[in-house]
This record gives sequence, C-alpha cells and structure tokens, in this order.
Amino acid sequence: MSSTPYASQRVLDIPPSGIRKFFDIAATMRDVISLGIGEPDFDTPEPIVQAGIEALKRGATHYTSNSGLVELRKALGAHLQQRYGVVYSPDSEILVTVGVSEALYVAMAAILDPGDAIIIADPCFVAYEPTARMVDAVPVIIPTTPETGFQVTAQAIEAAITPRTKALLLASPNNPTGTTIDRDELVRIAAVAAKHDLVVLSDEIYDRLVYGVEQVCFASLPGMRERTIVLQGFSKSYAMTGWRVGYLAAPAALAAEIRKLHQYLIMSAPTASQWAALKALEVGDPFVELMRAEYDRRRRLIVDGLNSLGLTCVEPRGAFYAFPSIACTGMDDNAFAEGLLQEEQVAVIPGSVFGAAGTGFVRMSYATAYEKIEMALERIARYIQRHCGI
Ligand SMILES: Cc1ncc(COP(=O)(O)O)c(C=O)c1O
Repeated sequence: MSSTPYASQRVLDIPPSGIRKFFDIAATMRDVISLGIGEPDFDTPEPIVQAGIEALKRGATHYTSNSGLVELRKALGAHLQQRYGVVYSPDSEILVTVGVSEALYVAMAAILDPGDAIIIADPCFVAYEPTARMVDAVPVIIPTTPETGFQVTAQAIEAAITPRTKALLLASPNNPTGTTIDRDELVRIAAVAAKHDLVVLSDEIYDRLVYGVEQVCFASLPGMRERTIVLQGFSKSYAMTGWRVGYLAAPAALAAEIRKLHQYLIMSAPTASQWAALKALEVGDPFVELMRAEYDRRRRLIVDGLNSLGLTCVEPRGAFYAFPSIACTGMDDNAFAEGLLQEEQVAVIPGSVFGAAGTGFVRMSYATAYEKIEMALERIARYIQRHCGI
C-alpha cells in the first residue's frame, strides 16, 4: 500500500528529479557559484523578446492552430531543409510543442504501447526514463563509458534488442556528457534501426551548440526519415528556456497521431512565444553564433582546468556541460557534490542523477560567466587539496 493517498502506482514509481535537491540547498546559501544549471545564462536576444512583446500588444493572445502558427511551421520546414537537407511538410509533418519536454512525451505516447521497450543510453537527460514510464513503456538502459567518449554504439544497441523493443532514443549532443555521436556511428545505428524496424526518437535540442564537429540530423541519413521523430527546440540554442517552445518533425501519418495527443493535452503552444520563435529563426543566427563562441571559450577553460586538477574529462563536443570523473578523490559523486557545495559554495550535479553509468562523475555546466568558472576552478582545487592532498 502506498503512503500517498490517491496517487497512482505509476506516479509513485517515478522518483523526483535529483537535480532539484541541489538547487534547493544552493538557494539557501550565499555566494554560491552555480555550475548546476542546465540552461543558458544569457537572456533571450532583444529582437526576439520584442517580437514576443509586440505579439502580445497586437492581440496575439489566442490559441493558434493545434500544430502551431503556420508562419512558424513554414519557417521550421525551411530551416530543417537548409541546415540538414531534410524536407518536411509544414502542413502535415511539423508540430510546434511546449518545449522538447512535451515533444518527448507525446512522441513516446504515440508510439509505445504498455510493455513496449525503448532503448535509452545512460547517462542521459533526467526526463527520458520517467517519460517512458509515464506511458507504461519499459526503458532499457544501456551504459556508455568514457572509453568510447560516452558514445553509444550500434553494437551495444543491437545487443539490447528484444522482441519487445519498439524504439530507440538518441541524444546528440548529449546532456550530461556533451558527447556527440559521429556520422559513421550514426550510419551503423541507422542500419540496426532498419534491420530491427525501430522507431528512432532523435533529441537534437543542442544541435546549434557544437564545437568543431559536424551535427547530423538523424532523419537525413538514408532511409531514416520514415522511421524517425526529430525533436528540436528553442530553449538552448536561442536562450529561450522560459518561452517553452520546441517542435517535432515526423512522417505525416505518425505526425497526425502525435497531433491528436498534443491537441487534447496542450491545445497549442504559447502564442506569443511562437511569434518570438519565428523571429528567432529570422534573425537569430548571429546571436546563436556569439553565444556558441562564448560557450566554446568557457568549454576550453573548464575542460583544461578540470584535467589539470586530476578530474579527468572527456572533451565535450556539444551542449554546455563538462562531465569529469571524480575517481581521483575516492569520494562518491553525491558526497563530492554535497561537500563542494557546503565547503566551497560551488554547485555541481552528481553524475548518478543522470543514470547509473554517471556514478563517479559530476556534471558541471559552463553556461556560467567565464570569470565565475575561473573562481569555481580555484575553489574546486582547494576542495580537492583539502580532501585528497593533491
Ligand atoms: C537533452 C535535453 N532534451 C530536452 C530538454 C528539454 O528542453 P525544453 O523542454 O526546454 O525544450 C533538455 C533540457 O534540459 C535537455 O537537456
């Protein structure tokens, strides 16, 4: 019997996010440098904000079509074609969602029956496994390791397939490791997906934030468009987390099923935010590039700094996270993070929050000012010296 009256077993089985705990502690402390956040420290670029304000002022305060503003869907179709060479119909194959968070849910709910399995590489974004459980699917977790740069391999995916496996969730770039999956591996993964008739959910929310590597849209690989649901959004690339706009692109028949869920669950994504997102597509590129270049500068600072402290770090090629091993300290990742917060007021997230394979690592976000990262590295050095004498 559950101790929470009226709650369903399904929700009781889902643990709360481990990230929140650290924010709650950090919020009670002074002078904290937070490397814990998973969102840009930049404000949304001014012309995008203005577009949102103007939309509200001219009365864009009503629902839009369920699929999203037609102007935005057209711009998204052009955007996907121009960047990745994939063609989607704005009328029937693109759906504007409340962030990638909603897109993940409606996509999983539309393809997975109770008991169907979805393969998810670990460590991963905290919502993947709970979202699968919310639709009574079975998340099959496959670990990745620093030895492969945390890249999930086609071989590991194939080894995890059972007769109940219906889908595969890919994330490139990945949160929390910053790993990108290279084209050769993606091509091998595509062959496995075709051989076993898998649907692929490709979370590409960090697609614009890559450093010196090619970003591949999974649907652009030969034969993959018909079995792929592409998930992308505005939160990270355009510093628009609070606007809550994302989108998905899928073959028309599947998109129609997903749209039904979105229609009953959400009606339509926030209208002013959709106008702002349209402006982001129209004028956002230079802003994205400025932010990306600054993340890259911070990335090099934090990765070099951590490696020189003995917290070895696979080079992140995307997103804005470093994921160092804390093995040299002999501490477990929860104790390390709690101690660092209490003693040196630096907030990081224990790697095990992102799955068992993250045990022994911590996630440090470099969506934080350069000078703050410098200060954080000094504090981390002091902390390590105090605990390990190195
Ligand atoms: C990999 C990944 N996917 C999806 C999301 C959800 O983003 P949003 O709902 O803001 O679009 C996040 C947010 O941290 C993420 O890291």
